[in-house]
Amino acid sequence: MGIYLDNAATSFPKPDVVIKKMMEYMQNIGATSGRGAYKSAIESDRLIYNCRKMICKVFNGSDPAKVIFTSNVTEGLNIVINGFLEEGDHVIVSSLEHNAVWRPLKTLERDRSIEISMVDCTSEGITDYNDVEKLIKSNTKLIVFTHASNVLGSIQPIREIGEIAKKHKVKFLVDSAQTAGAYPIDVKKDNIDILGFTGHKSLLGPTGTGGLLINCDITMNPLKSGGTGGDSKYPYQPDYFPNRYEAGTPNVAGIVGLGEALNLIYSVGIENIRKKEEAIIEYAIERLSSVEGIEIYGPKKSDKIVGVISFNIKNIEGEEISYKLDSQYDIMVRTGLHCAPTAHKIIGTGNTGAVRIGIGYFNEKNHIDILVEALNKIQSNYKCK
Ligand SMILES: Cc1ncc(COP(=O)(O)O)c(C=O)c1O
Repeated sequence: MGIYLDNAATSFPKPDVVIKKMMEYMQNIGATSGRGAYKSAIESDRLIYNCRKMICKVFNGSDPAKVIFTSNVTEGLNIVINGFLEEGDHVIVSSLEHNAVWRPLKTLERDRSIEISMVDCTSEGITDYNDVEKLIKSNTKLIVFTHASNVLGSIQPIREIGEIAKKHKVKFLVDSAQTAGAYPIDVKKDNIDILGFTGHKSLLGPTGTGGLLINCDITMNPLKSGGTGGDSKYPYQPDYFPNRYEAGTPNVAGIVGLGEALNLIYSVGIENIRKKEEAIIEYAIERLSSVEGIEIYGPKKSDKIVGVISFNIKNIEGEEISYKLDSQYDIMVRTGLHCAPTAHKIIGTGNTGAVRIGIGYFNEKNHIDILVEALNKIQSNYKCK
């Protein structure tokens, strides 16, 4: 196995305890949840409920019923954006959003005439929260912010933005895809109304997991309708949490794995995870800066970013760098626009894209040494051509 540096896309490896727990569920329990009354079905219910409780514990939510499981954060964000915004509503977003936010919003701009205002940020991806307040209008219904950019890593001032949202009685939705599990989040202290999380990145769970933690009173139309295991005579989706937003058989194995991953994260402590990752981020910035011709995007301070660092090397295409890293050095990174075209526009890479490394909990400083050595060789070979 080579050096995995694409944790911003999905984390790897997954902890052994997560894999073991999922296998135990599949081999010994196997039943779906919320449907049967026999022992193993009740055990599946318990495991799913345990994961809802763990989400609350990790992010300081108060009601496990207000944890909605989806197949990823994209689906969760779509539930809120499509289910909450109506014709003529105004929404404020950062200029760093992933397409998981940007595309559903642009679709509603076209189909429901919603208005979108984008908050400016610096060329390093730093937002001034005062700029958010300036954009609030009488029809503003929602503020959506990524907690950290998946291109620049820059951490956004969500606590202050949440305070502004509260003051103006506007709902605040945070996309924690790049921070959940890697950076402390407290929905109460951080003034977050709705937290979108994905299970397979720094939460260390399997792909196919994610969801929403609702920390407010809100009515949204469900995105899907279907079986919930109860109220079967009622012809519509029930109007209570979480069933209103969870239709069809859940990903029980995935949620069981996520629950175990959350247990692990809680016992290690997100502050400790952050401490470990921040040391590697600092080291990576320093070491990468020594590569000839490199341009690193985003803040160069480890306390301002999560483990996402994007760069280009003068005169060498990003695709070539990532191809050579993979084929010649067995190092996995990602190149392109990372589904965040507006963030790339800010740094002037809207056409070319950039190479991105995603540092995760299982990376070590020597992975950065191996990466930098490989980049130096690619760079010097290129110069010799
Ligand atoms: C900031 C951000 N939002 C949303 C997503 C979408 O995550 P998922 O594919 O798990 O829905 C990602 C992941 O690529 C991301 O980095």
